[in-house]
Amino acid sequence: DSIVSAARETVSFISSRLAEYPQLACPNFGIICGSGLGGLAGTIAPTPQVVIEYADIPGFAVSTVVGHAGKLVFGLLGEKQTPCVLMAGRVHFYEGHTIEKVAFPVRVLHLLGVTTLIVTNAAGGLNPEYNVGDVVVLNDHINIPGLAGAHPLRGPNIEEFGTRFPALSDAYDLALRRKLHLTYKRQQEVMRSKRRLHEGVYVFVSGPSFETRAECRFLRVLGADVVGMSTVPEIIAARHAGMRILAMSLVTNCAVLEPTPRGDAVLAEGGDAELNKVIEKGKANHEEVLESGKEAAEDMQRLVRMFIDELVETPN
Ligand code: HPA
Repeated sequence: DSIVSAARETVSFISSRLAEYPQLACPNFGIICGSGLGGLAGTIAPTPQVVIEYADIPGFAVSTVVGHAGKLVFGLLGEKQTPCVLMAGRVHFYEGHTIEKVAFPVRVLHLLGVTTLIVTNAAGGLNPEYNVGDVVVLNDHINIPGLAGAHPLRGPNIEEFGTRFPALSDAYDLALRRKLHLTYKRQQEVMRSKRRLHEGVYVFVSGPSFETRAECRFLRVLGADVVGMSTVPEIIAARHAGMRILAMSLVTNCAVLEPTPRGDAVLAEGGDAELNKVIEKGKANHEEVLESGKEAAEDMQRLVRMFIDELVETPN
């Protein structure tokens, strides 16, 4: 099968780059860093460390998005110096890649020996309780493109990776979620003052446009708490291959759930100027998504490091 042979070729290329670092070559933990969350790579011990640009890796697509560097980093993370492989940056479906291509790096991580995958992303908050900067541990997802056919496992099943009809009802590992909440509670000081940890449902949309107001209400009614343009293809490929999953969203903006002002509304004192303010309020933009991230991103990165330390100390 072409995906299998491509993944094997990628693995042998990566392995050749790791030849002098046997301690890094077979990491149990993979971490995918989302928009503005690649800073975790900077906290990996400087030596031993192997960095490979996506552009140099056969079979890897290169991200075109500002804020997604695009490199694999092999190294030791946290106080326990745990071998990890980090994907700093990812490619998205909306960039024009097939959904299989988006999931391809996860297949490679599986062949490299990764058994636990931690996935982070930036997402819009649909749950009105959420504030910008809050962190949401995911306990389920809704795969909008996937329900309509853009699914990473579409096509002949690749037995090397997993079974034809994998269950996803248990995709988000309960024991890992429990441990994350415990880490958060024990280490509350790592999360600056009001940063809260929620648990919720992620809905995957294709993008690249942000959702309309009506779409936000639609997604909320479906039962979603956060909305984003990534993560689900990778998680499906990872579950297909039997990995344990922990996924987290950083709320970078709050979706606008209120309907737009009506065109037949009687103009108030302020006229259109007032109504335009209402329209501008809450309008999502990519800069906001990257910026509001910074401090929160550091907190979330620290949470991931401490989580891995705790997991290594007391697995399960
Ligand atoms: N919608 C979709 N994807 C996103 C958003 C959003 O509001 N914020 C960050 N990623």
